[in-house]
Amino acid sequence: MRVKALHQLYSSEEIALRVAELAGRINHCYRDGQLVMICVLKGAFMFFSDLLKLINVGPEIDFVRVASYGHGDTSSGTVSLLKDVETDLAGRHVLLVEDVVDTGATMDFLLARMRAAGAKTLRLAALVDKVERRRTDLTVDFPGFSLSEGFIVGYGLDYAERYRELPAIYTIEFEDA
Ligand code: PRP
Repeated sequence: MRVKALHQLYSSEEIALRVAELAGRINHCYRDGQLVMICVLKGAFMFFSDLLKLINVGPEIDFVRVASYGHGDTSSGTVSLLKDVETDLAGRHVLLVEDVVDTGATMDFLLARMRAAGAKTLRLAALVDKVERRRTDLTVDFPGFSLSEGFIVGYGLDYAERYRELPAIYTIEFEDA
């Protein structure tokens, strides 16, 4: 579908405030533990980077890459692993960092893998908790914004691999088909 316009939803200032709030909660939660923060590529890279700069509990970091969407705005419903973590997660306190939780399929898949890898605790931080299409009962432990509908881009999020570089988050208005 062709993009007609982008409409700002969350400004970079609003995002920075929310990220700082989440960092405060995460620092408190993990004040005694050794934390491994895992960035879910590609979309979470900007959120992860900004969040990480505010974490003061000396975390290790790692990256995982999965794909659940094709080049469009609908989920294929299947999740494939494109890059696994390199850290041994057995006995570790693991925090998955996502940009968006939508249907929950990606998180179900990753949480099951991390559980199987022996993580001692497993929590989820997501900048945007999109509840409308949720198909599972997973809990986002550290949610940034809650959104009921709309396709969003910017701050790492893409539409057909575009708009990831934008510092704010926008909804897309599509041209009529
Ligand atoms: C998006 C997003 C989440 C997932 C959420 O990733 O970053 O990982 O979809 O959808 P779900 O809850 O319905 O599974 P995408 O597959 O677009 O890859 P990207 O992060 O590389 O853009």
